[in-house]
Amino acid sequence: MNESRGNTSFEDVVGVRFGRRDALRGALAMAALAALPPAFRPAPASAAATTDAAASPAPFAFEEVAHGVDETHHVAPGYTADVFLRWGDPVTPAAPPFDPRHQTVAAQELQFGYNCDYIGFVPLSADRGLLCVNHEYTIPTLMFPGLVDAEGQFNMDAYTPQMADIELAAHGVSVIEVQRKGAGWAIVPDSMRNRRITARSTPFLLTGPAAGHPRLQTKADPKGRHVIGTINNCAGGVTPWGTYLAGEENFDGYFGGQLPEGHPETRAYFDYGIGAGSVSRFALIQKRFDVSHEPNEPNRFGWVVEIDPRNPMSTPKKRTALGRFKHEGAESVLNKDGRVVLYSGDDETFQYIYRFVTKGRFDPSNRDANMDLLDEGTLYAARFDADGTLHWLALVHGSGPLTAANGFDSQADVLIEARRAATLLGATPMDRPEDVQPHPTNGRVYAMLTNNTRRQDVEVNPANPRARNAFGHIVEMIAPDADHTADTFRWDILLRCGDPAVATVGATYNPATSANGWFGSPDNGAIDMEGRLWVSTDQGSNWPLTGTADGLYAVETEGDGRATSRMFFRVPVGAEMCGPCFAPDGRALFLSVQHPGADGTSSYPGFERASSFEDPATRWPDFKPSTPPRPSVVLITRNDGGRIGG
Ligand code: FEO
Ligand code: CA
Ligand code: CA
Repeated sequence: MNESRGNTSFEDVVGVRFGRRDALRGALAMAALAALPPAFRPAPASAAATTDAAASPAPFAFEEVAHGVDETHHVAPGYTADVFLRWGDPVTPAAPPFDPRHQTVAAQELQFGYNCDYIGFVPLSADRGLLCVNHEYTIPTLMFPGLVDAEGQFNMDAYTPQMADIELAAHGVSVIEVQRKGAGWAIVPDSMRNRRITARSTPFLLTGPAAGHPRLQTKADPKGRHVIGTINNCAGGVTPWGTYLAGEENFDGYFGGQLPEGHPETRAYFDYGIGAGSVSRFALIQKRFDVSHEPNEPNRFGWVVEIDPRNPMSTPKKRTALGRFKHEGAESVLNKDGRVVLYSGDDETFQYIYRFVTKGRFDPSNRDANMDLLDEGTLYAARFDADGTLHWLALVHGSGPLTAANGFDSQADVLIEARRAATLLGATPMDRPEDVQPHPTNGRVYAMLTNNTRRQDVEVNPANPRARNAFGHIVEMIAPDADHTADTFRWDILLRCGDPAVATVGATYNPATSANGWFGSPDNGAIDMEGRLWVSTDQGSNWPLTGTADGLYAVETEGDGRATSRMFFRVPVGAEMCGPCFAPDGRALFLSVQHPGADGTSSYPGFERASSFEDPATRWPDFKPSTPPRPSVVLITRNDGGRIGG
């Protein structure tokens, strides 16, 4: 074990992040800060010379990747992208090698899961860390042979309960210890911290105000406090105390069956898309995914889960205080008063942006004291007014409309039905809120709004100004005096996405953006060590609208260059770009290439058919005739060893 604990003082941490950097000059202070996750570190020396680090971050300096689509990935010249972890690679020391034609549940429970998404880096020391990776969902037609029929359709008759079991095992989270290797990192294959957390077998505790509530009780768990598994873990976050957060996003898609006639959850489940009689393939192996068998099971998903990656024996927790909705992620910022503020998007058309403020304060000298900070606090939803004011509306039982008269008998009810509570409070319906990324020091928060082609002319609002919004936009939320607990923020639109050369699109890029720099469907954001914003895209099957595969873009947020964008990395055909995660020193970047060969491949010139295990649109990254495409994490380093992005 090579572990250092967060033993810098709170005053030191706040001093770094709010201008008093003198307190941290010197190797000793920097060594103490190495124990904090990267997002809670000071800005680099080049920015520290200014009073406001974010006002003058170093400009991006790299040569762009060209728009386009083909069977492999592309990174900016002068950089190297190595495939770091692939679906099926061993995670725990006991894992067998990947054998795609002879998959087993036992093997998948120990191997890297499918469809890697968010990546979090939890430092253990200057040279060691824990890479935590979400596995959002599975695609049986690309994972197993024999599931696509002659018409290109999913052949349910060939699907087996064992496949469902393997799929559940391929969900969840992987924790992998890594150690420094040059400018990059290498896996520590025999680390006892390496761990798989799955949808099929890992026990979770429900904690916070809704834990134990009758609406969370099931036949298997009559006390409503123990859940097996986590599903659809999309984006996430890392806390200042070094735990990993995974959002449970589209949990509705796992449930089938019909609620019993007149069941009290009927109305609430409608809001989340559950109980309409669809068939769940997962109910083949676990009956709880059929709501006619277990009506309350869906209430046990849709939460933010917290995992302590340092302790492989720890029980992960579903933190109900953060509300139940389709959580894209849960990125946090350490506020100057020591409270921790988390931001989360509810990724569906016309849903909301949320903020959670802890009641307690972060204690940098006592990690154990922080481990349940997420059980008490206040959840808010955002209302964007036309005058540029953002109001945070508290989801507190008994206040305003959140009373028994509207079906909320307790705070548990408010949290379980956070969507309806936010609607009653008057939150602003957004164009699919994805990652909501706070800058660590300057009070700015960037909300990625992917797209919403359902929005009609009469439904536009100042923060979602385009009807039939096919390309999405990025909203900037500005905390006054960098106080993320303030009731009122200012807001602005950083960028309306889409092709700036087509006037009717209404894109608002800086004119310095090249023909390869614009993008559609922003999804994940990350702030690098210079305080600069990076944005990854998820166009799904709509990539022909831009003519390019998804990718990672560097976006200027300050000064004359504001809203200039350039492409840094491009994924293979059918893939999505997820999880930008910078190593603590900024010299390495981890990216998730999710579902290669999956989305929109019938539009890929020369392919134009359904992608399958036997005949995929790409066999990235192995390119072996017998191996299907494998969702993978790539590791990017600069060939001269310098910081990513220049
Ligand atoms: Fe899983 Fe909203 O992306
Ligand atoms: Ca996403
Ligand atoms: Ca992020």
